[in-house]
Amino acid sequence: MSDPLHDELLQLALEAADRAGRLLRDGRPADLGVAATKTSPIDVVTEMDIASEKLITGFLTEHRPHDGFLGEEGASVVGTSGVRWVIDPVDGTVNYLYGLPSWAVSIAAEKDGETVVGVVAAPMRGETCHAVLGGGAFNNRERVSHRPAPPLSQALIGTGFGYLAERRAAQAEVVRTLVPQVRDIRRGGSAAIDLCDVACGRLDGYYERGLNPWDLAAGVLIAREAGALTGGRPGEPASHELTVAASPEVFGVLQPLLEDLGAWHD
Ligand code: IPD
Ligand code: CA
Ligand code: CA
Repeated sequence: MSDPLHDELLQLALEAADRAGRLLRDGRPADLGVAATKTSPIDVVTEMDIASEKLITGFLTEHRPHDGFLGEEGASVVGTSGVRWVIDPVDGTVNYLYGLPSWAVSIAAEKDGETVVGVVAAPMRGETCHAVLGGGAFNNRERVSHRPAPPLSQALIGTGFGYLAERRAAQAEVVRTLVPQVRDIRRGGSAAIDLCDVACGRLDGYYERGLNPWDLAAGVLIAREAGALTGGRPGEPASHELTVAASPEVFGVLQPLLEDLGAWHD
């Protein structure tokens, strides 16, 4: 039976992601530049990241004034309703800046600390993935499921790199050892889309160190609701330390391998 609160949160998240996606797609200035940098000179923010977050938080606050917020571009509100929205207004900002299509709006709703709704809209793909806790995963409202797992040697694995040079050097070492053991590696540039690609059967697995809650909250729920397994280091949930998502049999091999390779530390 569906929960009326979850239904309400899903409809709001879908509408907010659609509005922000249209703003980003149709309103992208031809001369889009970098407005600011964050953790390093290559960790960039554009005026559109800020405009998108403003649109999303404004829309959600109008409908649910007592909810909390955590947004990458600074939204930080402690609410009183038990609901908190976790927002990445543009996931894949470097792709967006360069005019590459792989970027998304990611919106998750937590109830009492648990993610109950996830929406990832990828306007240049014409696709929106969503999931509600316990209700399966969908792409453009069609049910999706992870891929039947191949042996690791035939698995297509997505990953990503952080913005700090020291972390990247460690991440490159992990990839160096992994790439001869798998079909190939993909670096798409949007963690939220990578997680949806696991959900839709377009990647056999994905892992990354250093993700923040706004990168992973919606996508991890979507991957899990598509039947994939998600986690961090063995026995741990997906986190900043490490996020892994994969078809179950691939997960069973990939997670311990990443543990041995030290993919969870710099
Ligand atoms: C980044 C993307 C990228 C991942 C980075 C994230 P941003 O998010 O998801 O794929 O590798 O770790 O920080 O900065 O474009 O929102
Ligand atoms: Ca992000
Ligand atoms: Ca972002």
